[in-house]
Amino acid sequence: MRPADLSAILLAWYDRDRRILPWRYGPGETADAYHVWLSEVMLQQTTVAAVIPYFQTFTRRWPRVEDLAAAPVDEVMTAWAGLGYYARARNLHACAKLVAEWRGGRFPDDEAGLRQLPGIGDYTAAAIAAIAFGRRAVVVDGNVERVMARMFAVTEPLPAAKPRIKELAATLTPDLRAGDYAQAVMDLGATICTPRGPACGLCPWRPTCQAQAQGIAETLPAKLAK
Ligand code: ADE
Repeated sequence: MRPADLSAILLAWYDRDRRILPWRYGPGETADAYHVWLSEVMLQQTTVAAVIPYFQTFTRRWPRVEDLAAAPVDEVMTAWAGLGYYARARNLHACAKLVAEWRGGRFPDDEAGLRQLPGIGDYTAAAIAAIAFGRRAVVVDGNVERVMARMFAVTEPLPAAKPRIKELAATLTPDLRAGDYAQAVMDLGATICTPRGPACGLCPWRPTCQAQAQGIAETLPAKLAK
């Protein structure tokens, strides 16, 4: 099947079955880069379920990036308590200040610009560029790695397989709706193509999945023994 057909199948599944999350926007709505950034930083190393109440607290208390920037850092740290990885909260506040004070409250709209901000690495820059700005960015997190490893039966273990997996992810990323597509792959990995006991019977990509055809889906991605 052609990549454009595969991404179209996944987008149709997403339009039907997407998870309703407070930072997600419906068709035709404009994404707020501040919300996308805040959610993606919170989602680094933390599950969707744990992030939801924190996202709501932060956006109610600090509706705009300027409000977050103006808050004392101690208050931000206290509001973050429970999410863990506290360097993220410090970087969050530093990033809000830079964007509010030097960029008039506007986030850079491409990956290279985003990557220069504190707390924004390759994954987060790609996710914001795609979801908030509609850029064709290749978004790869742990969920995406697992889905790609299985779709293409990549048996080489992680982390060595990362460059290969990113190349494969790039071949499927569409020019249009790259943000929805990225979130669709992440949802697929979180809800169907799970690490253990994947629900292949419900998967829209099952007919093309090489690991499923070979009966090795659950064994992938292979990880180097520690
Ligand atoms: N994990 C990180 N970002 C996500 C998003 N936007 N949707 C679903 N899962 C995610």
